[in-house]
Amino acid sequence: MSRPKISVIGAGNVGATTALMLAGLEHGDIVLVDIVEDMPQGKALDLMEMSPVLDYDSVITGTNNYDDTAGSDVVVITSGIPRKPGMSRDDLISTNTNIVKQVTEQVAAKSPNAILILVTNPLDAMVYVAHKVSGFPKHRVMGMAGALDSARFMSFIAMELGVSVENINAFVLGGHGDDMVPLERFTTVAGVPITELMPPDRVEALIQRPRGGGGEIVKLLKTGSAFYAPAASAVEMVEAIVKDKKKIIPSCVLAEGEYGIENTFVGLPVKLGKTGIEEILEIKLTDEESKALHVSASHVKELCEHIEGMGIL
Ligand code: APR
Repeated sequence: MSRPKISVIGAGNVGATTALMLAGLEHGDIVLVDIVEDMPQGKALDLMEMSPVLDYDSVITGTNNYDDTAGSDVVVITSGIPRKPGMSRDDLISTNTNIVKQVTEQVAAKSPNAILILVTNPLDAMVYVAHKVSGFPKHRVMGMAGALDSARFMSFIAMELGVSVENINAFVLGGHGDDMVPLERFTTVAGVPITELMPPDRVEALIQRPRGGGGEIVKLLKTGSAFYAPAASAVEMVEAIVKDKKKIIPSCVLAEGEYGIENTFVGLPVKLGKTGIEEILEIKLTDEESKALHVSASHVKELCEHIEGMGIL
């Protein structure tokens, strides 16, 4: 039986770290692709040379050629550029839309049965682009956002309370970052809602921090954006798929009526297994929660309409 084939497009900070973790955990054989010549080959060789030290048998190949990705089971797309000083949001959107479009066309041609996990920002809109360009069914195109937003939220709760991260379960919905909708009544420490464990102003502070979590790291790094936690979150999704774990992970998916949201990509709790998105979990929201989720979804919809208007797709 062969190992799962996982391609990672973009061998920059997020992509290379994703490949490192996938190999270290032996989730499959990995193909690392970048537009820059020789760089993915160099990183792949370096990762192969690390394998006897960490004892993994995953094969890591670096390439600039999509032929090497043929027949991938899962493809993680991280290619794109971060926003640079002086660059408008529109410039970023059009550049990354072009990159994700080109990449998806080539990935879909070589791996028509793959499951796509998008990481490139602006995330929810890039999932829309990949879904449209690939023509893949909605259960095979998703975005990594909720896994990262909830990981950030959980880490802040653990730090605040001085308890193990293993005790914490967070529940988030909505778009990535600013638009995240955390459901504090379902966010628990050893089964106890955080609302029982701290005053409302602390709960509110812990909710605000992951909303600006990406920006907080950009400010510290100065030359790039976060990559360890984003890569680990993408790996969590890949693992759920290749091991058919049926794990509930908040992910960006196409809503078609769920939570009253029509035809929009937004973060919802989904069950991930070997066929991709196997179910969207629907829970009853309060009016306030539902309103926040709809506001978040409307922001994504506006952005996708804006991309449509650019005439790139
Ligand atoms: N095809 C393949 N690779 C590409 C292409 C392309 N058309 N265009 C750019 N790339 C590659 C770049 O050469 C670079 O190696 O994508 C990589 C991006 O890496 P970084 O600049 O290090 O960015 P990273 O921190 O990995 O973030 C990537 O993930 O979290 C998001 O907001 C982040 O959108 C960004 C993406």
